[in-house]
Order: sequence, then C-alpha cells, then structure tokens
Amino acid sequence: MSQGAWDVYAMTKGPGRAVNSAGHSTWFNWTQYADHGPGVELLGTPDRALDLGCGTGRNAAHLATVGVRTVGVDVAGARVKQAQEQWKALERVTFAQADALAYLGSAPWFDAVYSVFGALWFTDPAHLLPAIYEHLTPGGVLAFSQEPPIAECYGPQGAYVRGTDRKPHAIRRWAYEPGVWAQALERFGFSEVRAGTVPAPDGEHLGTLLVTARRCDRAR
Ligand SMILES: C[S@@+](CC[C@H](N)C(=O)[O-])C[C@H]1O[C@@H](n2cnc3c(N)ncnc32)[C@H](O)[C@@H]1O
Repeated sequence: MSQGAWDVYAMTKGPGRAVNSAGHSTWFNWTQYADHGPGVELLGTPDRALDLGCGTGRNAAHLATVGVRTVGVDVAGARVKQAQEQWKALERVTFAQADALAYLGSAPWFDAVYSVFGALWFTDPAHLLPAIYEHLTPGGVLAFSQEPPIAECYGPQGAYVRGTDRKPHAIRRWAYEPGVWAQALERFGFSEVRAGTVPAPDGEHLGTLLVTARRCDRAR
C-alpha cells in the first residue's frame, strides 16, 4: 500500500477549476480532459454511490447535487480534508480517509461504485473487483476510467511519485486491454460488461479506457 506516495501526490495538486465551460460548479468527468466524454448517466439512477479514490471529491459532489447519497474514499488524508472543506455545504456527500480495499471490508451496500483514474487503477483487481461485487446491490453498476494500456505492457506496473519532500515514492498500477478487463469482471460475476476507449478530443492523442459492468444476480 502506498499511502505515503499519495499524500505526497496530494501536496502537488490544487483544487482544480471552480466552474466548467457551462458555468456549473459541479460536474462529472470520466476523462483526463476538461468538458469531454460521457457524464453521470453511465451510473444509471443510484440512491447510494461510492467513489474509490475520490481526490478533491468533485465527481462525488456532483452526484450529491443530483440527489445521490455519495461516499468519497481516498487514501490521502490531505485530499480528504480538502474535499470535506470544499464541499461542506452539500448534504448528501461524505468523505472518508481509507484505502479502498480496507474501506470495503466494513462498508454498506451501494447501487453504484465508480473510480475515475482512482483506486481501481492502483489496486490489484484480483482483490478489488470481488470486494466491490460483494458491496453492490443487485442491478448495481461498477464504472471506472483510467489511461489506456501501452501496447504489450500489461499487468502490474511501477512508477515513482515525487513530491515537495523530493523523495521518490513508489506506486503501482494495473494496465490491461479492454477485453482483459471484461474477462476479469465476468470471472468475478459481473455481467453486461462494456469496455473500450473514449477517443481523445480534437488536438489530443491519448484516449481514455472506460469500463462499465453490472451485478445482475438476485443473491441478496
Ligand atoms: C489520479 S488521482 C484521481 C482523483 C480523482 N478521482 C479525480 O478524478 O480527480 C488518484 C487518487 O486515487 C487515490 N488512491 C490511490 N490509491 C488508492 C487506494 N488504494 N485507496 C483509496 N484511494 C486511493 C489517490 O490518493 C488519489 O487521490
């Protein structure tokens, strides 16, 4: 677990834009580009949602403004403090400092679990996918986005994050092609899997890996 690295990463980041190009103070963004890609509709109409690796909490805040009770979880305490301060006026959103897998160990049920360049990228999917499945209500949606894999560089990968302390802090992330994500999700019980790449906007070149899936059984 690389909490120290994520605390360092948090120090290098600001709160982001105050408003989007439409003048809204909250919005949902799956991609690395401003005002681009699909929106909150990918999550269906959940009552309760969980954001794994919420960062400044803007996506979670947006869900709260459209009536969804949302929990944002992030391993970096500085990010969680920032999110709590920035969104304290909103009633339906709470933030917790925790590792995603640890949080799911004692979490309630959710109708939607999502991760935008978040914990799903940085946690072994062999552990995280079944834990998420166990905390989704029947019919519930899992959705996540991250950078697409580099050709032939698949599986767990290491990188260094360098913060204001100038020390190298190691993180790991997991990169797979869309078809491999689909197989993994189906192996852990998910269905209606859609995995693909959102094309980059004009003038950019790197698309966004975007995956959605559903828990369809009636076990609960
Ligand atoms: C690249 S940022 C993305 C933040 C946010 N989702 C967004 O779209 O702006 C990745 C975030 O995931 C968090 N994170 C990484 N690993 C995590 C884990 N295992 N559990 C919870 N949060 C994690 C980091 O602290 C960081 O805030």
